Amino acid sequence: NNNTIKLNNGASIHQIGLGTWRSVGENDGYNAVIAALKAGYRHIDTAAIYGNEGQVGKAINDSGVPREEIFVTTKLWSTQQQEPEVALDESLKRLGLDYVDLYLMHWPVPMNLASMPKGEKLGFPMLPNGKRDILTPPTWDFIKTWELMQKLPKEKARAIGVSNFSINNLKDLMASPNFKITPAVNQVELHPRLPQEELVQWCTKQGIHMEAYSPLGSNDAPVLSEELILDIAKKLNVSPAQVVISWHAQRGYIVLPKSVTPSRIEANLQTFTLPEEDFQAILNLSKTKGELRVCNPDWSPIVCFV
Ligand code: A2P
Repeated sequence: NNNTIKLNNGASIHQIGLGTWRSVGENDGYNAVIAALKAGYRHIDTAAIYGNEGQVGKAINDSGVPREEIFVTTKLWSTQQQEPEVALDESLKRLGLDYVDLYLMHWPVPMNLASMPKGEKLGFPMLPNGKRDILTPPTWDFIKTWELMQKLPKEKARAIGVSNFSINNLKDLMASPNFKITPAVNQVELHPRLPQEELVQWCTKQGIHMEAYSPLGSNDAPVLSEELILDIAKKLNVSPAQVVISWHAQRGYIVLPKSVTPSRIEANLQTFTLPEEDFQAILNLSKTKGELRVCNPDWSPIVCFV
């Protein structure tokens, strides 16, 4: 699948990108990116909080693939919402790159940098009572962060977008007085046990492209072992992961399967058109089996695995 999608800044993005969350073992990120670029991927997704920007960037630079052929995304961590340009510069330094193609606000929840251990920026700031130190309005909010992100130099962040935003978050953002740039994408958890139909439809109508993270249910949602997925895979003589990635691609948005296994990385790029009845059956799966989340979107007592 070499399909590209046009973003609202005019840039093209490959529909399938390599996800790198939890690709943090020694050289895992590096080897995965090298394998992906070799297999034909031209889109890599990372984040400051993943702790692998160094590995990912080094692989991009070592790969021999021209930088301009690769679409690179990284994300602003919540403790740096008050200083996005500083954070972007730090990400670029770790990546060893001059620019990213897309810079995302990782969560709509700013956290207090001052509550981090001295010298550390990437993590979860804690109050003495053990609660996360989340900055609440009027101290700060994601609307103020977006105002700063809109002013980021285009030479360093070609496009800007958001992640983990709900429809209400986006409505608040887009109704704010200094709102100018529509987010290019909204990257959220999306898979057969969490199809997010309303969010997908709403964002698409606004020209905000959806990006699916944990598209295979990651390690915490048993998507690849669902009976329905196994049956369809068997019937069509493909792998369960290919069924799921093809289903995402058929929904028309960007898909970010994560793998550190070269054979899987390669196979995950091979999508096909699912018969309509199978496509619909997967779309309906969560209606009978219920929804499952890998990441908890309710960031007050958030449980999110980094
Ligand atoms: P690994 O990285 O060890 O290859 P998600 O993209 O939803 O976050 O899912 C990632 C998980 O799915 C990882 O545990 C990854 O394992 C596994 N995975 C990725 N591609 C495949 C595949 N083609 N078949 C089976 N498991 C896969």
